[in-house]
Amino acid sequence: MYLFKRKTDLKKHLDLVRKNNKSIGFVPTMGALHQGHLSLIQSAKKDTDVVVCSIFVNPTQFNDPKDFEKYPITVDEDIKKLNTVSTDILFLPAVDEMYPEGLTAKHQHYDFGDLENVLEGEFRPGHFQGVGIIVHKLLDIVQPDQLFMGQKDLQQCLIIKKLLHIMQSDTRLVVCPTMREADGLAMSSRNTRLSPEARKKAPAIYQALKHIRDQFGNGLLFMEGAHEAFDSLKKQGFEPEYVDILLVENSNIKKLDHPPAENDTVVAAIAAWLDGVRLIDNIIIQGNL
Ligand code: PAF
Repeated sequence: MYLFKRKTDLKKHLDLVRKNNKSIGFVPTMGALHQGHLSLIQSAKKDTDVVVCSIFVNPTQFNDPKDFEKYPITVDEDIKKLNTVSTDILFLPAVDEMYPEGLTAKHQHYDFGDLENVLEGEFRPGHFQGVGIIVHKLLDIVQPDQLFMGQKDLQQCLIIKKLLHIMQSDTRLVVCPTMREADGLAMSSRNTRLSPEARKKAPAIYQALKHIRDQFGNGLLFMEGAHEAFDSLKKQGFEPEYVDILLVENSNIKKLDHPPAENDTVVAAIAAWLDGVRLIDNIIIQGNL
């Protein structure tokens, strides 16, 4: 695996890759890699010739500085894991390399519409602008044919779809299914911060999503399952931020306020705090993304 820390070196290398008519797949990450990330790399390996993974903990997307400080950094282990799936290139830039203009400089503002203000956007103000800024910079450097992201961050995937449109980019976004632990907990770098006791409780989020799916289709009571799931999580010691049933339409998310049509895409999504750790998850209830 090649390791690049400077964007000019990576760009030069990728220019040669393109000259040799090889396609480029890209998996952007913030490190603390787990099987979920590795499965994105495996999908990229299947679909493209040369796979680039980036590890960069992006300061501008953390609305909570404490969350940024606590973000796990495990570069040595990450490199070992990337080698197990034959990653071709790792891009590991420092903050100055990605933000030579400084973190507090005025950055481009993206018009993501309402998508930016619901769910994660509502509880993490500014988060998606930060994601837009860094993914735009990374895409300009890597210029991949295909970009691979996980469904666990569904709203982020829709934001990136909009970003690609804003950038008039030809890169194709591939949304890969959420990887889960044996007990159903969605894989996440944040899971490592859970105490053993909280880790045992955490799969209740996935159980709650499945409960919503089972209760759905109940005519006018289609929201009932979400209310029950909210109460049940609260009783088990979670602090839920949202437990919602949503309509996904043209890269937008709307809260569902009427029973959906048969061909609508509907997802259930949850964000909840447990043991000082914020966990998110979602499942598709009907339709396709
Ligand atoms: O999902 C993530 O890990 C980050 O939001 C991303 C896409 C790498 C941007 O920093």
